[in-house]
Amino acid sequence: MEQRSSEANTSKELKAQVDRRRTFAIISHPDAGKTTLTEKLLLYSNAVDLAGSVRTRKNQRHATSDWMTMEQERGISITSTVLQFDYDGHTINLLDTPGHQDFSEDTYRTLIAVDSAVMVLDAAKGIEAQTRKLFEVCRMRHIPILTFINKMDHMAREPLELLDEIEDILGIPAAAMNWPIGDGPTFQGVYDLINKRVLRFSRTEHGQRKAPLTVSDVDDPKLVEALGDKAHSTLREEIELLSVAGATFDEEQYRQGNMTPVYFGSALNNFGVEPFLQELIRLAPPPQPRQTIKETTIDPAQAAFSAFVFKIQANMNPKHRDSVAFVRICSGKFEKDMAVEHPRYPKGLRLTRPYQLFAKERVSLEEAYPGDVVGLANPGLFAIGDTLYTGTPVEFQPLPRFQPEFFAAVRNKDSSKHKQFHKGLDQLVREGAIQRLFRADQSHVPLLAAVGELQFQVLEARLATEYNVQIEIEFLPYTAAKRIIGNAETLEKVAWPNRAMHVIDEEDNPVVLFGSEWELRFCRDKHAHLDVRFEDLGFTADAAS
Ligand code: G4P
Repeated sequence: MEQRSSEANTSKELKAQVDRRRTFAIISHPDAGKTTLTEKLLLYSNAVDLAGSVRTRKNQRHATSDWMTMEQERGISITSTVLQFDYDGHTINLLDTPGHQDFSEDTYRTLIAVDSAVMVLDAAKGIEAQTRKLFEVCRMRHIPILTFINKMDHMAREPLELLDEIEDILGIPAAAMNWPIGDGPTFQGVYDLINKRVLRFSRTEHGQRKAPLTVSDVDDPKLVEALGDKAHSTLREEIELLSVAGATFDEEQYRQGNMTPVYFGSALNNFGVEPFLQELIRLAPPPQPRQTIKETTIDPAQAAFSAFVFKIQANMNPKHRDSVAFVRICSGKFEKDMAVEHPRYPKGLRLTRPYQLFAKERVSLEEAYPGDVVGLANPGLFAIGDTLYTGTPVEFQPLPRFQPEFFAAVRNKDSSKHKQFHKGLDQLVREGAIQRLFRADQSHVPLLAAVGELQFQVLEARLATEYNVQIEIEFLPYTAAKRIIGNAETLEKVAWPNRAMHVIDEEDNPVVLFGSEWELRFCRDKHAHLDVRFEDLGFTADAAS
């Protein structure tokens, strides 16, 4: 009896922990204000006292290795961070999405680990290329998206035009939840269309502190004075127009990813940031049930633990060569040192040294709940996509891989470093830093496949800093690869293009590299009468763009 009531308490506690969590990522085009908004969310949740600390860390980070210097030079974010903070009785996990297109597979995996997303747009630019790509990834997964239109304090496009653009380009209704009051230097704050009130903010020095807020109604004389009669009557007209003509917010549609609520603001000035955070808590879903490969779903509040590895990140500090596996908890309670099952290790694993990450700092962690991300020190144990569980075996759906489009032979310059070279390559492939590792039929030179050229440079830098191995990269003139399925007798009958290269993948499958899409299609069509399948190695990055 006692045991049953303690189980009930545990499951109630677990349910409460699930309900209070929001796990999301910000999707945006570089420069739209993702870092600034992140910083301000931390400011309003009191996780930092002064805005600017995340950026400071961002800068500090750049000094740590060649690899980071490369990041800095190219102005991209290769590594991703997970931030956890509390606000109004809720625990928020914010997963950072790397911004460069070469790393879209990484980004894609991060988006698999979240329950919702925030799309940040620059008010002067609207939907940009990268936003659109990331949006498509969210749409494929039906991830609910809240939109924050940033930089309203600057030269901004017409708000109605921005809403139209979201609807036209992204193809989902955009429901204004607030409306900007003034623009550029006269930007005052927003009219809250849901609660029908004016939220006026005052600027603080460099936006480092929370912006003082005045709440009033739309006819507040101070507002009229600040805006002038003309701008004020335009505001009134727009509010009226929206009440009859604008898309009406439908929570169910939002939850299914078919509609986005839109909020205007300025992250830099802290205008509209806290109301946005409140809306995030109100609307963004708590951790959702996850699908397994058996087409069943795992309830986050079930007692049995389950989680998957969505990212492996090498330590940027060359002094500590370990790497961290990022694990998204899907159900049950995580406890430090707990024993879990893992398909590759029949004896199971003990999850020692768990971390929570705050920017680049590690904090040791005792327990965690569904929706949380735990960093596990990973001495080569985990691979991307691994499922960890207790109790009945669980296997989540495999994480998607992109079809590689760049191929290169990689040579080790110093043969005495043979062991480190191969160890490094194996580990980096497991981490997903590079897509595939092939062997040519008659050669020992490893061939690597990637989605973008930049990945090879990252590989080179990492092999040098983490494994002390210098390599030579020879790009190969191939652009497409297919896994070839068919029996030996049939395969004999295929007339492969002269330039095609035959290789073997990690699982000993035959793969053929083609010089062009055209060459590949020609070969496939010519042999359509044979029982030979040309299988993709992943899906094309374009399918998600
Ligand atoms: P990102 O992470 O999406 O790439 O963008 P980030 O936050 O770094 O912002 C890009 C630039 O836009 C920064 O200026 C930032 O200060 C500015 N910004 C962000 N939010 C707003 C806003 O609400 N209004 C205005 N006017 N600017 C905004 P920067 O000059 O590149 O950097 P910094 O010198 O300010 O650090």
